[in-house]
Amino acid sequence: MSFKWDDQMVRSDVAVMISSEAIQGRVKELGEQITRDYAQKDVLVIGLLNGVYVFFADLTRSMDLDAEIAFMRLGSYGSGTESSGAVKLIQDLDKPIKGRHVLVVEDIIDTGLTLQRVTALLQERNPASLKICTLLDKPSRRKVQIKADYTGFSIDDHFVVGYGLDMNGKYRNLPYVGVYNPA
Ligand code: IMP
Ligand code: MG
Repeated sequence: MSFKWDDQMVRSDVAVMISSEAIQGRVKELGEQITRDYAQKDVLVIGLLNGVYVFFADLTRSMDLDAEIAFMRLGSYGSGTESSGAVKLIQDLDKPIKGRHVLVVEDIIDTGLTLQRVTALLQERNPASLKICTLLDKPSRRKVQIKADYTGFSIDDHFVVGYGLDMNGKYRNLPYVGVYNPA
């Protein structure tokens, strides 16, 4: 069977920004970098649901580490492309992280409010270290000072969908990252 997902799934309301091949290449590099940095360390990798699910599955499988996996869920985007500003904790961890090396994985950093909340919350619990990995970063949108330790791609200010990122719950299953642009 031979077909290219990118060609098959291109649609009129999404313009491809980062192809699935480009994402896979970058995710592999990030996985290798994280593997080197956390060699011999007991690492807990925390994914922020829901947007991270695709990136998280690929990233964690590109890490050659005995990593423990956990998830948290926070909410800020009610609907559409604008955030309400308030970040609520919907699902917390079910174990302490004291003394653990924690790597938080996010799909995209926009205003930085979500990660500000998450890092404050986790830092209080005294992990051995706390780092951030994000697939995408929109630095021009930042409202608070948050910097990732590992960044897949830095992008301009566009609302993007695909590879886990959604618009009102849809488009997450596109294999590429694209700019949402309704007709
Ligand atoms: P922040 O709290 O403003 O940094 O936003 C982080 C969250 O907003 C991310 O985890 C995403 O769920 C969502 N978000 C921000 N920008 C986009 C986008 O361009 N497309 C889809 N979701 C986004
Ligand atoms: Mg998210």
